[in-house]
Amino acid sequence: MKIFVICILALAVSSSSSNSNDVPVRRDDYDGGVIHDITHSFTPNTPVGIYPNGLGKFLTLLRSMKNGSDYNFSELKLPLHAGTHVDAPGHFYENYFEQGFDADTLDLRVLNGPALLVDVPRDKNITAEVMKSLNIPKGVRRVLFRTLNTDRRLMYKNEFDSSYVGFTGAGAQWLVDNTGIKLVGIDYLSVASTDYLTAAHRVFLKSKEIILVEGLKLDDVEAGLYTVHCLPLRLVGAEGSPIRCVLMKG
Ligand SMILES: *[C@@H]1O[C@H](CO)[C@@H](O)[C@H](O)[C@H]1NC(C)=O
Ligand SMILES: *[C@@H]1O[C@H](CO)[C@@H](O)[C@H](O)[C@H]1NC(C)=O
Ligand SMILES: *[C@@H]1O[C@H](CO)[C@@H](O)[C@H](O)[C@H]1NC(C)=O
Repeated sequence: MKIFVICILALAVSSSSSNSNDVPVRRDDYDGGVIHDITHSFTPNTPVGIYPNGLGKFLTLLRSMKNGSDYNFSELKLPLHAGTHVDAPGHFYENYFEQGFDADTLDLRVLNGPALLVDVPRDKNITAEVMKSLNIPKGVRRVLFRTLNTDRRLMYKNEFDSSYVGFTGAGAQWLVDNTGIKLVGIDYLSVASTDYLTAAHRVFLKSKEIILVEGLKLDDVEAGLYTVHCLPLRLVGAEGSPIRCVLMKG
């Protein structure tokens, strides 16, 4: 019995040391699209609306094996609206913020379920006319809008680019008045275009029923119907949160 245990230990040690040559796998796609990760990785180059040159250093080692600790232990410093993230109602409404409509209260039934990925015309922002022209079928509750932002690879540039495509105030109002869409996803840091930053956000967030997911990675996924799974962190008191989103076939 003793010998058996020692053998197991030796195996464990030798396999863990041989693993040190392994190259970690980073993937967007699992099994030919069965799962498609539509979340951007966080790196120092991740764009952030209010930072001129992106996220910068966001991990700090508090304990380090190089410094004699038995373990590595890092701390994360992350703006809530960096990379792929979600907005809670308190982002654009002071009263909702104070009442506690934070990331922890976002409805997981809205953030998970059937979702349509659509391409919008590349020469316009998302106006009421554009929304109308998309002919999104009645009954669709979750829509991810792919725009010129994806073609321009804006999420891969550390510098914030205010010329991104987003909703106008009237475009947002059209969606609220004429559809049952409760999850609005987009491929840059804001669902609202620069000129309508406050107006469009306030239209969407007013009812507290629509959830805005921003900074999605929608390259290399075909338009169409999927099941989306988005999970924010349960950050109490936060007007947004980093979010992990995947699309699954069917
Ligand atoms: C973290 O731990 C590894 C061993 O697992 C060690 O080689 C490395 O130096 C540590 N990183 C730092 C920055 O100390
Ligand atoms: C390691 O220790 C040195 C000396 O105390 C310190 O200057 C350095 O910041 C430490 N680095 C880490 C990663 O803990
Ligand atoms: C969308 O609107 C922004 C300003 O809000 C503008 O800079 C950009 O050029 C517009 N994009 C398109 C494709 O019309």
